[in-house]
Amino acid sequence: MGKSHLKIYIVLLISHLCSIAIGQTFVKLQDTCACEELLEENECRAATICNYSHRECKTIQCTHLSAKDCVYNSNCALVNNTCADFESCASHNATTLDDCVNLFHNCYFDNNKMTCRDPQKIDLGRCSETINGRCLIANEGLCAWKNGVCQELTACEDVDPTSLQSCEFEDDKCVSHLQCSQLEMADCKFAKEKINGDRYQLCMIGRKGCINFDPTQQTKDTCWKNSNAFYHWVGKNCLRCSWASIMKSVLFVALLILSI
Ligand SMILES: *[C@@H]1O[C@H](CO)[C@@H](O)[C@H](O)[C@H]1NC(C)=O
Ligand SMILES: *[C@@H]1O[C@H](CO)[C@@H](O)[C@H](O)[C@H]1NC(C)=O
Ligand SMILES: *[C@@H]1O[C@H](CO)[C@@H](O)[C@H](O)[C@H]1NC(C)=O
Repeated sequence: MGKSHLKIYIVLLISHLCSIAIGQTFVKLQDTCACEELLEENECRAATICNYSHRECKTIQCTHLSAKDCVYNSNCALVNNTCADFESCASHNATTLDDCVNLFHNCYFDNNKMTCRDPQKIDLGRCSETINGRCLIANEGLCAWKNGVCQELTACEDVDPTSLQSCEFEDDKCVSHLQCSQLEMADCKFAKEKINGDRYQLCMIGRKGCINFDPTQQTKDTCWKNSNAFYHWVGKNCLRCSWASIMKSVLFVALLILSI
């Protein structure tokens, strides 16, 4: 491939990546708006962990958060019932199970050594590697038998519904509840993208029930709140937070490649 062709190809690839980023409606729970991204006073004042002062929105320091609000900032941890900067599970001298769990960072308590430890990633193998064993859980998450092969469980409807906790029975059928429209009004916030994984579809209450979150239907007063803090108001639009950082990394890679 000639150099100019390569560049055209890369530009196309990049615009494709950008369109994915723009059209992205799934969120990970850690991608909520940072206080520093919020431009509107009402959004900042409504956010538990933000402080609006001198027309700026700033993150409140962990040590200034109450024990109750500590959990809302993932950089903080409850240490001896006081909110503090989180360092690691081991560094806060938690010597009881309660103290360890209260650090909120999936810390794991080692009963033998009586110490709090960082969560370890255990290699469980892949679902498909299960031949005779129990087809329940693997690196992908939950697994289930499908067509005689142990596979990642993607929809409850696909499998024999015996003993699957994440599925619900409705009219003798097993259903996944992976869509906003299947949620009760009271739970109308997130639907999982699939059974395993950590990506969620944002939902909102529509005229006829729970529907997918639509940023174009939001106003300055509803954008942040209805998006569960994943979108914020910018000028006249309800926009996804941390977009700027997604775009910056895409553009950075683009410039890097184009300068070759
Ligand atoms: C909010 O910011 C102001 C000005 O910087 C500061 O005086 C105040 O202590 C802050 N409040 C909290 C809860 O951090
Ligand atoms: C925990 O807090 C209590 C009271 O606030 C204090 O007396 C105690 O010394 C603290 N313990 C540790 C390990 O910091
Ligand atoms: C934890 O314990 C060690 C050793 O006893 C001590 O040096 C350190 O200051 C303690 N850390 C905290 C956060 O209390």
